[in-house]
Amino acid sequence: MRVYLTGATGFVGSNLARVFGESHDAELFCPVHARRPPAGAPYEWASVDLTDAETARRSIARFRPDAVVHAAILNDFGRLYTHRRESWDAYVGATRAVVDGANEVGARVVLVSTDWVFDGTQGGAKEDTPPNPINLYGFLKAASELVVSERAEQGAVARVAGVNGVHWARPEAPRRQDAGFGYFVLSLVEALAAGRPFQVWQSPAINMVATPTLASDAAELIWRVVERELSGTFHCCGGESVDRAELARRAVDAFKLDAGLLGLGPPDPNALPPAPVPYDTSLDAAATAAALGVELPGLDSALRRMRAELETGELGPELQPAGGRAA
Ligand SMILES: NC(=O)c1ccc[n+]([C@@H]2O[C@H](COP(=O)([O-])OP(=O)(O)OC[C@H]3O[C@@H](n4cnc5c(N)ncnc54)[C@H](OP(=O)(O)O)[C@@H]3O)[C@@H](O)[C@H]2O)c1
Repeated sequence: MRVYLTGATGFVGSNLARVFGESHDAELFCPVHARRPPAGAPYEWASVDLTDAETARRSIARFRPDAVVHAAILNDFGRLYTHRRESWDAYVGATRAVVDGANEVGARVVLVSTDWVFDGTQGGAKEDTPPNPINLYGFLKAASELVVSERAEQGAVARVAGVNGVHWARPEAPRRQDAGFGYFVLSLVEALAAGRPFQVWQSPAINMVATPTLASDAAELIWRVVERELSGTFHCCGGESVDRAELARRAVDAFKLDAGLLGLGPPDPNALPPAPVPYDTSLDAAATAAALGVELPGLDSALRRMRAELETGELGPELQPAGGRAA
C-alpha cells in the first residue's frame, strides 16, 4: 500500500508514520513543512506547503498513492484568531487541495479530525452525532470534515481524541498541561518522575472529560480505515472516557509514581486559549470498533503500553481483534 501522509513530523503524524511503515509495511511519502524529519525516518519526503494547492496536487500526482492520510494542521490556537485567512487556508484550503489531488489519482482520503468538533455538552457523541463546534479550531476542523465528506470520491473522517503517547519526531520536547487532554499524561509523568508536584486542573472553562487515546492505537485504527477502504466517519479513540482527575490517578498507577505529589486546582490563567473550550468531549466509538473489527483498548492497557513505548522506544503489540483472539 502506498500512502501519502501529511503532518508526519507532528505528534499524531509521527505515530501514523511508524505504525503504517513498521507494522504494515506501507510505502510512505511525507510532505514536510517547517521541520525536517528525524534521522532514519521510515519514509521518503520533500518540502511541500499544503496551502499551495498546485504544489500539493503535483506532489500527490508524482507519488501516485493508494491513499492520502491528512494529519497536518496549523497547530497554534491563538494564531487561528489573529491570522484568520492563513488559518482558513491551512485547514480548509489544504484539505481541499489534498482531496483534489487524491481524486485526480483515484486515491482514497482519510482526514484526521478531532473530538473538539463537538460543543462540550454532547458527551458520548457517536460518529453520526451532528457536530456543533464552539471555537475556531473546532469550526475549521468541522469545515474540513465537510470538504472530505462532500468532495472526496472516496473519503473518510477519523476523529482522534485526547491523544497521549510518544512524539516520535520530537520525543525530547518538554510538555505542559493545557486546556485539552493531549500530552496530559506525559506532562504529569515528567513532573512526578522529577519529584515535582503536579496540579490537575479543574475548571468549567477547559476540556474536563474526554476519551484518552494512545497515539499509536489511533494510528492502528486509522490504518484499518485505510486498509478496509471504508468511507464515513470514525472515532479512532480509546475505549474509556474519564475526567482529568481519573486520568491522573490511573496514570500514576500505570507509571508507579507517587500519588502524594498530585493535587487538584485551577488552571494557569495564562495557559487558557482565547476562546471557549468544550467541557465534555467524550466519544462513543462502538460503531467504529464494529466496522474495524477491534476491541477498543481500556485506559489501563493504553497507559501501560504508553509506558513501554517511552521506556523501550518500540511500538507495542497491535490492538486486539474483536472477540479478543490473536489475529
Ligand atoms: N494532539 C491531539 O491531542 C489531537 C487531538 C485531536 C485531534 N488531533 C488532530 O491530529 C492531527 C495532528 O495534530 P498534532 O497534534 O499531531 O499536530 P502537530 O504535532 O502540531 O503536527 C502538525 C503537523 O502539520 C504540519 N504542517 C503544518 N502546516 C503545514 C503546511 N502548511 N504544509 C504541510 N505541513 C504542515 C507540521 O509541520 P511543521 O511543524 O513543519 O509546520 C506538523 O508536521 C490534527 O488534524 C489534529 O486536529 C490532535
